[in-house]
Amino acid sequence: MKIAIINGPNLNLLGIREPGIYGRQTFEDFLKDLKEKYPAVQIDYFQSNVEGELVNELQRVGFDYDGILLNAAAYTHTSVAIGDAITAIKTAVIEIHISNVAAREEYRQKSLISAKSVGSITGLGLKGYELGLLYFL
Ligand code: DQA
Repeated sequence: MKIAIINGPNLNLLGIREPGIYGRQTFEDFLKDLKEKYPAVQIDYFQSNVEGELVNELQRVGFDYDGILLNAAAYTHTSVAIGDAITAIKTAVIEIHISNVAAREEYRQKSLISAKSVGSITGLGLKGYELGLLYFL
């Protein structure tokens, strides 16, 4: 089984960035633990701060991977291109947010990803990625 995790802008700063909201663990540490826990799953990770690179990666993994866990970060709320890419590919996407976006600023209430995804996991911290992986399993 092949699962892609795709993270958007500023998520490379997890562990440093607003730890009260996003926690103190780096994504690299979390990913190492996740891979150790699920050795039978190929988990490929991609992060970019650039919208078009996220579209390119969705297209790259979107036809032969078994599932995509996408945290488009701030692009969730603005990117028609990422929403269109999800529609264009074959692989199912789960939308992930570390924080509970519903409890935050109004501009975070809109998602251009949710309706294109099989489901959304928000507010459960990094655990959300593992729960998304379990869904695909
Ligand atoms: C986020 C929520 C977004 O609103 C925000 O722009 C992020 C992270 C989350 O994981 O909680 O960068 O996607």
